[in-house]
Amino acid sequence: MTRPKVYVTLKIPDEELNLLRSFCDVETNDKETSPSKQEIIKRIEDKDGLLCSLMEKIDNEIISCGSKLKVISSISVGFNHIDVSEATKKGIYVTNTPGILTNSTADFAWALIISSARRISEADKYVRDKKWKIPWGLTMFLGSEIYGRTLGIIGLGRIGTGVAERSKGFKMRLIYYDVIRASKEKEENLGIEYAPLETLLKESDFISIHVPLTPETQNLISHNEFKMMKPTAHLINTSRGPIVDEDALISALRNRTIAGAGLDVFEKEPIDPDNPLIELDNLTIAPHIASATRESRHGMAKMATENLLNVFKGEHPPQLVNPDVMKIRQLSETKMV
Ligand code: DGY
Repeated sequence: MTRPKVYVTLKIPDEELNLLRSFCDVETNDKETSPSKQEIIKRIEDKDGLLCSLMEKIDNEIISCGSKLKVISSISVGFNHIDVSEATKKGIYVTNTPGILTNSTADFAWALIISSARRISEADKYVRDKKWKIPWGLTMFLGSEIYGRTLGIIGLGRIGTGVAERSKGFKMRLIYYDVIRASKEKEENLGIEYAPLETLLKESDFISIHVPLTPETQNLISHNEFKMMKPTAHLINTSRGPIVDEDALISALRNRTIAGAGLDVFEKEPIDPDNPLIELDNLTIAPHIASATRESRHGMAKMATENLLNVFKGEHPPQLVNPDVMKIRQLSETKMV
């Protein structure tokens, strides 16, 4: 049997790279930065598999150039960077890495909630800028309490559920909005109530977004939605940047239509140095690191490697994004090892 040829667009741990190499001929991008589209097109022509991350946009053109591709395995839970319908039409298995990053991301959403409520990044900058002159001030850096407040969760999937679970110690009122309503049992266990989006926006003190980026969720939060929020509300986004209309967010934060925000994701990443968000003091900014724990990131690389190898073994990959692909190309036809 011919060994499968694989292109890996980013540095992965040696353990996974060696595992891949034991079954496949592997070409890797060893640079810190993502390969350009032209580079991917050049590399993909003779490859059976692609191991990539959310940093590469795997569009129609790239997929068409990868005429031998059988699998695209992404080291990410989100797959909005891949043209999944085009891949499905061409019989390419698309896989992702859900579950493994639930805890790290839910923890980080909470880090942003606390930072936004208590102005931690603003206070940190204040001290580093050597502006701390009075030892203690009664009204210095007043923030908002979290205990007993209302937490609105948009998207009650794995991560949204993790965020809800972590609120227990804060004895919060929990509400959620999702296109698919959770079972009564799940609602009762979490102590969470379903609310239409408008109600959630009006009643929440903290709003945390946990939906995937799709055409339906793009700009889900824009000018009108900010107007519905409380002036004391905080918006947290660890999902995907384009779910929040960035211009609308900038004016809501500037005009204090809402009190603050915590963002790990942006419309364009990395953000431009002149992005007005950088100047806003009522915003905690992180560079897309919600899943960045050693455990999650290694687990993601491991899961993505297993997904890819499974396809070459003709076995069902643990995390298949496009099960319809099996109607186009059966797993027996992808078996190469
Ligand atoms: C994902 O896996 O989609 C996350 O955004 C990575 O941090």
